[in-house]
Amino acid sequence: MLTQGQPRPSSARVGKPQGCDSSVNRATEGKNPPLHGIRACVFDAYGTLFDHASAALRCRDALGEKLEELVSLWRTKQLQYTWLRSLQSRHADFWQVTGDALDFALETVGIEDGRLRERLMDLYLTLEPFPDVPEALTRLQAAGLKTAILSNGTHAMLEAAVNSAGLGGLIDAIYSVDAVGIFKPHPNVYRLATTGLGMPADAIAFQSANAWDAYAASAFGMRVVWCNRYRQRPERLPGQPDREIESLTELPQLVGA
Ligand code: LAC
Repeated sequence: MLTQGQPRPSSARVGKPQGCDSSVNRATEGKNPPLHGIRACVFDAYGTLFDHASAALRCRDALGEKLEELVSLWRTKQLQYTWLRSLQSRHADFWQVTGDALDFALETVGIEDGRLRERLMDLYLTLEPFPDVPEALTRLQAAGLKTAILSNGTHAMLEAAVNSAGLGGLIDAIYSVDAVGIFKPHPNVYRLATTGLGMPADAIAFQSANAWDAYAASAFGMRVVWCNRYRQRPERLPGQPDREIESLTELPQLVGA
């Protein structure tokens, strides 16, 4: 089964062997030097701004001991379906893919409950933002940087999540793969942000907690800050994130905000 990568015990700078870096507050220690010439910060949505696990966590009562397996399987299957559909040129929007993945996951853990399925899908529209998100966005905007989301999510899903999290005033633009009919990591997806913002790729800092997404944005030409919330290992894929942080709290000073 394809996975997002195994967790590793502690974060290390991209490209450096583990154990060579204390990883504590690297930006302030000067080990994560600022990126210059950044005019916009573009964010992945699910896993980076919004905690996709928060939907299932709010159904802890109904899921019981199956919670963890469901969270993992739902996300893994959701991503697999985006990649597989893209390879097949059989696009379906992220709402359908998310529902299909949920059906697969519920069946696998042995739950047949239409109301719970509906509740989980509804909760996907009101996912909790990670606690570091509002302040980071506020600081970026105050420094005059443009902020945007670039995501597999549909416009409706992303707008719902942004509004429910109270981030409406902190995000200048939302770019959905809806506009190109293919999922990340196709280069056309990353091009949505350069075209939409009217900026060259190297004036954009792209933030993702999904390692494969971070590497793909880098291969496209963006400057990339890998927000390694899940302590994933470096990918063996084209691209190389410019910086690695553990939460978005470290971002503003990296981009001069
Ligand atoms: C997104 C998925 C990849 O928001 O997290 O695009």
